[in-house]
Amino acid sequence: MIILGIETSCDETAASVIEVKNDKVKVLSNVISSQIEIHKKYGGVVPEVAAREHVLNILPVVNEALVEAEVNPPNPLYQGGARYSAPLTRGGRGVDAIAVAVGPGLVTSLIVGVETAKTLAYAWQIPTIAVNHIEGHIYSNFIADQNIKFPALILTVSGGHTNIVLMKGHGKLQVIGETLDDAAGEAFDKAAQLMNLGYPGGPVISQWSEKFKTQSTEHKNQTKHKAQNTKQITLPRPIIQKPGFDFSFSGLKTALLYELQKDKKWRKRIPEYCHEFQQAIVDVLIFKTIKAAEKYKIRSVLLSGGVSANKELRSQLETAVKTKLNKAGFYMPELKYTTDNATMIATAGYYKAKRKKFTPWQKLKVDSNLELT
Ligand code: KG4
Ligand code: ZN
Repeated sequence: MIILGIETSCDETAASVIEVKNDKVKVLSNVISSQIEIHKKYGGVVPEVAAREHVLNILPVVNEALVEAEVNPPNPLYQGGARYSAPLTRGGRGVDAIAVAVGPGLVTSLIVGVETAKTLAYAWQIPTIAVNHIEGHIYSNFIADQNIKFPALILTVSGGHTNIVLMKGHGKLQVIGETLDDAAGEAFDKAAQLMNLGYPGGPVISQWSEKFKTQSTEHKNQTKHKAQNTKQITLPRPIIQKPGFDFSFSGLKTALLYELQKDKKWRKRIPEYCHEFQQAIVDVLIFKTIKAAEKYKIRSVLLSGGVSANKELRSQLETAVKTKLNKAGFYMPELKYTTDNATMIATAGYYKAKRKKFTPWQKLKVDSNLELT
């Protein structure tokens, strides 16, 4: 089965083509046009700007994905629009279905992807599959691994969401914990803003944090060094001991703000602030995930979402699963599938298609607050 995936829920315009045989996913193309450079100057995503950019990018991105995957004749999108109704063929291959992210996300951005999917489905007379964006992140793990054992537990950490999902099988998803306020990625972005480090905050805080690790190692290696009088920076691990699996990160950002306000020399200690801030988030995420995995007798732990690109989170969670959980496997997506992309949407779409969960294009609807399940 060949699926075209479309993703426009935030600031990435993405399209991908996958070919799946017996659950084995072959990625034929994965095209992403990121708007990060445009939103950088505002310190975050501006919804109206994002939507306008999606409008400009969507057709070239979809076209590139089809051309790269070699499933389309040249420039089909510009040759007659809706009159072009033959299913795509080249080398005998055609697109069988279109999977599109319908929510959650920015409503005006989502509309661009959804309207494009509807139009193509009508023109090509092929079925559509509505995909939840978070479900897409979860399925980024199924791009490479089709043998993940259930029950699985997924920690999804992105700019807009942070939750723990119990997955008893395909289509059997239950949110067992979520953030009560800011998402982990949002916390990284806001912390970076407080320290004027740029946008997006996650990668930049992670880089500064690496500097702290190098500095500390160099420091330890010096035989003669001045005694450091500076007090170690410590930030809270919010609601880590609270029963249940919910998170809260807005207090952590405020705690950082207070520390910075008290410290006149904070600009000289940015690596250390970043390191502690990152570690506070990583500690809470890992603690709650392991606790939930123990409770539900989990056989696989999966990591997903933009923050899953974080090097420390990846390695520390992997170690925690291996040392603390008996016989549970650990999975995380390749780096290119951690942040928003359409391959994960197409893959989630494939598993829905397998269960015959198609939505007629006339009924495809954007839902910016779409819940999982
Ligand atoms: O999944 P994603 O691309 O978009 C949403 O669905 O929200 O996630 C974007 C988020 C941003 O908040 C960004 O700061 C964070 O992922 N992020 C990271 C890293 N790379 C991206 N956070 C921590 N460490 C990283 N290396
Ligand atoms: Zn996302």
